Amino acid sequence: MTLSSVKSAILSIGISLPSKVLTNKDLEKILNTSDSWITERTGIKTRHILEDQELISTHAIKAAKKALEKANLSPKDLNLIICATFTPDYLMPTLSILVQEGIGALNAGVFDISATCSGFIYGLSIADQFIKNNPNWKILVVGAEALSRKINWKDRSTCILFGDGAGAVVVGKSPSQESGIIDFVLGAIPNNWSLLTLKGGGSCFAPFDERLPKEEYFIKMQGKEVFKIAVKTLEEVTLTLLKRNKITPERIDLLIPHQANLRIIEFLRKKLKLSKEKVYVNIQKYGNTSAASIPIALYEAQKKNKLKKNNLILSVAFGGSFTFGGILIKW
Ligand code: COA
Repeated sequence: MTLSSVKSAILSIGISLPSKVLTNKDLEKILNTSDSWITERTGIKTRHILEDQELISTHAIKAAKKALEKANLSPKDLNLIICATFTPDYLMPTLSILVQEGIGALNAGVFDISATCSGFIYGLSIADQFIKNNPNWKILVVGAEALSRKINWKDRSTCILFGDGAGAVVVGKSPSQESGIIDFVLGAIPNNWSLLTLKGGGSCFAPFDERLPKEEYFIKMQGKEVFKIAVKTLEEVTLTLLKRNKITPERIDLLIPHQANLRIIEFLRKKLKLSKEKVYVNIQKYGNTSAASIPIALYEAQKKNKLKKNNLILSVAFGGSFTFGGILIKW
């Protein structure tokens, strides 16, 4: 077997969500908004939110433990832990070292990647490359976000969108040559990042720099503009992957898009002429959980028996920093 013929596959999935649920009705009490506006414009009904002292690393660790258990692996079997997040507990230590410690994966190298909502697809693609060169490796890819900590709860156009959560997958050599990760697209659009920012906490401004207004310590977004670029980009990524692999949209068994806005998902579904059954949607329950949204959706889809052997699964994402990614998997 040549190295390039090795295929990687998702061997198992685990998730963990904070138990606190914030409904649109709860938001009505603190903001000038309504359940009907949020539902109509975004599709979101509820989102899971960390309690004051709760950490996202706790959920990343729980999700990782569940994924390992399902794969029948010991933490010591892991060679690498990749955490996709832009809202880790701390800038240093990374989330990945906290996961390594928390599960006892003493033989694993660790690093975080920051590619916002596309982070999980970036992480899977990186894992795929490692498996091609080290077919016996087992890699944990985590998507975990604590977006509630980075939201300006006074900004009604943004704070209603996001939720917290974590998902983890174990990636290893595919048990069959026919199944596994087939192809992926990664990219980013330059000159647009200022439409969606989180400036505070980086090295441009010293902590508590008086030049930086308080709002800059939270996510700021020009939603309408981001929306337009998101729909266009997701369509392009999807069509690129399909064309390159000579696959027509009707051959997709399940599309798992990043869950940012139901209207974005619906736009893509209609462009591809897919039935509702072929598109996984759970945004109504969780809102946008950024890098965690795709592993959470994958987990639920598997639970509902929507990931059947040899199914073609396509996952696409777009997010802040204007990153995008798509991945095609034969399950
Ligand atoms: N409740 C009630 N009204 C609200 C509101 C809320 N939570 N948020 C905004 N509005 C108001 C606005 O103030 C505006 O009022 P005006 O017309 O009097 O000025 C009106 O609703 C329309 O606002 P607009 O921003 O044009 O709404 P929209 O249809 O673009 O929806 C988003 C806003 C944020 C839901 C939408 O733009 C979006 O989802 N953007 C993309 C998000 C995304 O994909 N992110 C991906 C990267 S993570």
